[in-house]
Amino acid sequence: MTEFTHLATPLKKGRLHLKNRIIHASILTRFAKNEQTTERLISYHTNRARGGASLIITEAVNALPMQAGRSQYLNAHSDAGIKNLSRLAAAVHSHDCHILAQLQERGRGNYDRKNQNRPVAPSALPDDLAGVIPRALKTSEIEQMINDFAAAACRLERAGFNGVEISAGHGHLFHQFLSAHSNHRIDRFGGDLDKRICFLLETIEAVRSSTGSDFLIALKLPAEDGDQLGINLDDAAYISKKLTATDKVDMVSFAWGAQNHALHWHVPDAHMPRAPYLEKTQRLRGSTNGVPVVALGRIVDPNEAEAVLASGNADLVGLGRALIADPNWAQKALSGRSHTIRACVSCNTCWGAIAKSQALICDTNPAVGHSFELFPPPSIPNTLKRRHVVIIGGGVAGVAAAASLAKNGHKTTVLHRGKEIGGRAAIAASLPGGDGLQSVYGLDTATAQEAGAKIELGFEAKVSDIISLSPDNVVLATGANPEGSLDVAGEAIDQTIAPPLTQFMRTAFRYNGLMGQHVVIIDLIGSIWCYCAAEYLTTKFNQVTILATEMVPAANSPLVVRQSLLERLARGRIRVLLDCTADPIENELATGLLGFFKHSTGIRETIEDVDALTHASPLQPRVELLRGLAQQGIDPFVIGDALQPRNLLSAVDEGQKIGRTLQNFARPYVSEDSAEPGQGRG
Ligand SMILES: Cc1cc2nc3c(=O)[nH]c(=O)nc-3n(C[C@H](O)[C@H](O)[C@H](O)COP(=O)(O)O)c2cc1C
Ligand code: SF4
Repeated sequence: MTEFTHLATPLKKGRLHLKNRIIHASILTRFAKNEQTTERLISYHTNRARGGASLIITEAVNALPMQAGRSQYLNAHSDAGIKNLSRLAAAVHSHDCHILAQLQERGRGNYDRKNQNRPVAPSALPDDLAGVIPRALKTSEIEQMINDFAAAACRLERAGFNGVEISAGHGHLFHQFLSAHSNHRIDRFGGDLDKRICFLLETIEAVRSSTGSDFLIALKLPAEDGDQLGINLDDAAYISKKLTATDKVDMVSFAWGAQNHALHWHVPDAHMPRAPYLEKTQRLRGSTNGVPVVALGRIVDPNEAEAVLASGNADLVGLGRALIADPNWAQKALSGRSHTIRACVSCNTCWGAIAKSQALICDTNPAVGHSFELFPPPSIPNTLKRRHVVIIGGGVAGVAAAASLAKNGHKTTVLHRGKEIGGRAAIAASLPGGDGLQSVYGLDTATAQEAGAKIELGFEAKVSDIISLSPDNVVLATGANPEGSLDVAGEAIDQTIAPPLTQFMRTAFRYNGLMGQHVVIIDLIGSIWCYCAAEYLTTKFNQVTILATEMVPAANSPLVVRQSLLERLARGRIRVLLDCTADPIENELATGLLGFFKHSTGIRETIEDVDALTHASPLQPRVELLRGLAQQGIDPFVIGDALQPRNLLSAVDEGQKIGRTLQNFARPYVSEDSAEPGQGRG
């Protein structure tokens, strides 16, 4: 008997029969190639079906002739695609799971410099993000599109799909028609909201009348989209009421934001509360004429999901990122193993990848979509005996390796110099936006220990300690050295004047009350975590300033992460000076003045009333043990930040890979003065 009785309850409503209340929200994976399924695409979906979800909604397919040739989307625009589509449907069905394909067109957001065709839209109004002016569709083209969507639905039905989700959210074409912000038409598809709904309504009718009586039609509708003349909650309720009154729709979900400054609303990050749209979903629920409602948006944990259903706010939970991070989420939740769920940390790395036209990736689940994602090789490969592996470092990479090695039957010892597991990630976990990070290394630590790994904390391992354990293999997961001194024009600034940010944050965590008036963070790395630290420091200082060399805040982060950051920065609690180089001079600092050069003008200016200074500088791999190990003939595997300071994904990935293969996947880091390490045989 599961503790999550609401999640486990089957749903029977009209045509919709689901074995439980957990469904996979549509996720663009970009795993398809040449409009065909790939092993990875099939594995991605079957893993989630096998993992217990009752329904998979796929990414959009190529439904319209104008979409033909989009290589990373499946072909539903011609009969030639049916056989291939049926492979996917059958694979998902074999795990007692339903499958819907998404019908959607991006409209004016479909801008691609390489594409010579102009994007189409209801009206020739510029896309809010790309600024490109689309071509307004002719009335006859819209009518043809309706027929084409219906024809695609027929093909999907022939391929064995249980139905389709028509996506009218996310600022895509149907949404563009619904919104007065983007639809200025004067034909029957434009005008008041009743007219603006026509394109979507007629598409629903066409799909319904050309498919069988049990074919499902789900709708993804816009809720608030952030545009001044766009969709608000009242409009959303009106649209939903009108469309669901037809008895043609089987399920409704609501999406927030659009292809605009509020794009990030659709993927709430860790700075947003969990399940942030529930209250509003509850208000919209009354507008669906009893058609089941799917709650969407940062539902991460089964307890939250259960609470959503128990509160009556929705009939189903739609999980996007939670199921990217752990395909087995549903089964684990429903079988009393929710503590083993690999949590989504709402970082939006996944979104960043697909926005760059790359295949889906996940910070906490590097194996996403691979055949071994659910069942990594269960035991020691035949070619390897049971080894004793000593891992130096209990950061994310170290414990990921330990979990994987111990599960694979190897004797595993972790020596960690800190008193707490987690390394750099443990600091990030205590900052705004760090929600959930602890679970990443926490889960691996628990898994490793359950599988028999020994983890010693507060142990600064020397070469002699490692030798005394007689390891068959050594893994260096020693992370990166904390930033050294702030370097200004080749001169090191004393660390008592400008300590590194990690050190400064450790002090701040221990400090009760206000630390001072005004802190300046000198940001030389352009990382989002500088901004998270700054947000934390607003609780310790009256004024927080970031002085950054980069020209755009957190330039390397995905657009949605930056949009969310800008929204927070607009609250004005942090002052950001971009495109600057600090020029700290001790005498000035003593009087509270910090000098800096503005790159664009070359002029030296000062920040006043500064009483604390810290800096985030590039990190160096911490591999001091390499030389001593090499002298003893030990050639360790080097993973994570010790190989090259990077991100969470690399740390988890390299830890897991070492555990799976006990083979090197990259050249180990070679420090300039260390003996040349070989291929990790030590
Ligand atoms: C990587 C990624 C790809 C997505 N692709 C689609 C898509 O193709 N179609 C769609 O309607 N929504 C897409 N979404 C939005 C999700 O369906 C969902 O609405 C959103 O992620 C919020 O749910 P979550 O918080 O559970 O992730 C995508 C989201 C992510 C993170
Ligand atoms: S990349 Fe980040 S946001 Fe996306 S699923 Fe993985 S953990 Fe969640």
